[in-house]
Amino acid sequence: MTDREAILQRHSVRVYEDRRIDKDTVGLIEEKIKELNNEGNLNLQFIEDAGKTYNKLMNRAMGLGSAPSVIACVGKDTDDLDERVGYYGEKLVLYLQKLGLNTCWTGTFNRKNTGAEVAGDERLVICIAAGYGKDGGRPRKSKSAEQVTAGKKDRPKWFNDGVELALLAPTAINQQKFTIRLNDDDTVEFIDNGGVLSRVDLGIVKCHFEIGADKVEKEENR
Ligand SMILES: Cc1cc2nc3c(=O)[nH]c(=O)nc-3n(C[C@H](O)[C@H](O)[C@H](O)COP(=O)(O)O)c2cc1C
Repeated sequence: MTDREAILQRHSVRVYEDRRIDKDTVGLIEEKIKELNNEGNLNLQFIEDAGKTYNKLMNRAMGLGSAPSVIACVGKDTDDLDERVGYYGEKLVLYLQKLGLNTCWTGTFNRKNTGAEVAGDERLVICIAAGYGKDGGRPRKSKSAEQVTAGKKDRPKWFNDGVELALLAPTAINQQKFTIRLNDDDTVEFIDNGGVLSRVDLGIVKCHFEIGADKVEKEENR
């Protein structure tokens, strides 16, 4: 499965089967996390038993009352931490999708109950619920390409392909509060229009845009 196919297939899943992720798959996830932590200077942690991470009333109200496992997104508390968490966390989400797992980014969770290790100079930004979904989730409403783009009107195909996948990026409360601007010299700017956890959203959007705009990935991984 290519990254593009994983993006097309992925939806947030909030109801999971009551079974653990199998051992071999856990090994693969831990390997991938090591690689992404190195690349992104992060301390993402796979927590096999999510325990009571999702025991808040708000979690149940939003439809996610429990999950088998959780990825705690931790890193050194720098200005760009939220964005790096979004970018590399989404790479992990897509990898899990390829392994037949389902996920949901969760800004709402019980910080005391994750079991994550967070050093003095680090911050736990967000969690990602993971497991075998009862189903694969479903498509949701989306803004149009026109609503999230700006700049040059004569747009190359790679830009439109990037925007197509950026619109499939998960964002907090499906807010999609970002703008992707194509400058006259064909450079691209990602603009955060504010909102809850919008820097995490922006990192996720960048990850999706890159996959959509990258011809090499599309042609070689098929
Ligand atoms: C930064 C972020 C925070 C989120 N927080 C929650 C949450 O606390 N609870 C929840 O049920 N879903 C949460 N979501 C999932 C979004 O609601 C979901 O991604 C969005 O509605 C789009 O749907 P999709 O992921 O199926 O494309 C979050 C997503 C992101 C990116």
